[in-house]
Amino acid sequence: MAAIPKILFFDSGMGGLSVFKETFALNPQAAYYYLFDHECFPYGNKSEIFLRNRVTALLKGLSDLIKPDLIVIACNTASTTVLVKVREVFSVPIVGVVPAIKPAAAVSNKHSIALLATPGTVARAYTDFLINEFAYDCKVLRIGTQDLVRLAENSLLNACRAHSTLRGSGWSFCDQQELTKILQPILELQPEQRPDAVVLGCTHFPLLREQIQSILGEQITLVDSGAAIARRVQSLLQKREQDLNTNGELQGEEEFEEEDDDDLYVDFDLSHPTNCGPQVAFFTGKVNAEDFGRLTCTFDHFGFHQVRPFVLSAHNAAGRS
Ligand code: DGL
Repeated sequence: MAAIPKILFFDSGMGGLSVFKETFALNPQAAYYYLFDHECFPYGNKSEIFLRNRVTALLKGLSDLIKPDLIVIACNTASTTVLVKVREVFSVPIVGVVPAIKPAAAVSNKHSIALLATPGTVARAYTDFLINEFAYDCKVLRIGTQDLVRLAENSLLNACRAHSTLRGSGWSFCDQQELTKILQPILELQPEQRPDAVVLGCTHFPLLREQIQSILGEQITLVDSGAAIARRVQSLLQKREQDLNTNGELQGEEEFEEEDDDDLYVDFDLSHPTNCGPQVAFFTGKVNAEDFGRLTCTFDHFGFHQVRPFVLSAHNAAGRS
């Protein structure tokens, strides 16, 4: 019988849970790990060089421990800058999450779309490429917002403060006034000038999908990458299964390429067991007891019943600044 595939999800914070949720629904047979860079959250205002070093080092370090078969970088801000480097370092398939410009352009009757993403993502060359390639016949309004990332992250955590366990969409504890202010660049346009498709180009934003939809109105279609990522993971898992049947070996068991690069050196606190079973979330940095309670409550809701700290050594300090 084939070994259960291990999938590592990565994000700066909780946003990747929106992608995880869809992926898990389609691929419940896999074991899931989730790493979030709590220490350096948020990513939307960090430089590209910082993100490339940081994300590569974190993924390499945790991968050495858990040996995933597949990695999902569930962060548009990271994917639009680190994918090339990460794919050079790892031999397992890397699924990146990038803004859903193509499907948004396809559903827009007005040929007018908006991209709601972090300041980093809206300014990326990769985003320019997506727009030039797939939305060349559309007017594209780029809205870079870090406030919406914090609002989504806090809404999720605040719901946990309010309830000991989250139920249904109970995490949507969100300040409607603040959200309305963030969406002003769309709302201030005359209705006929407004885009009819809005890309949720940050994985945090689908966590507030209902709220965003109710403020923007039903005539605007919200588009994100979650379902497409879930299908991509499904097809990669099917391919893995076929490879296993044909060759009798798993792609994911290949060694990672050796990297002669000090920036990638990562140390772990090995007092944390590495064989702690499926569905484990790891976070970087320190949290106080109250925040840890909120984190564990949130992750528990998504099926991650274990939440563990993840320690980077001073060797990796270059990747932090
Ligand atoms: N969830 C992330 C994204 O998709 C990152 C947000 C942030 O850390 O600024 O872009």
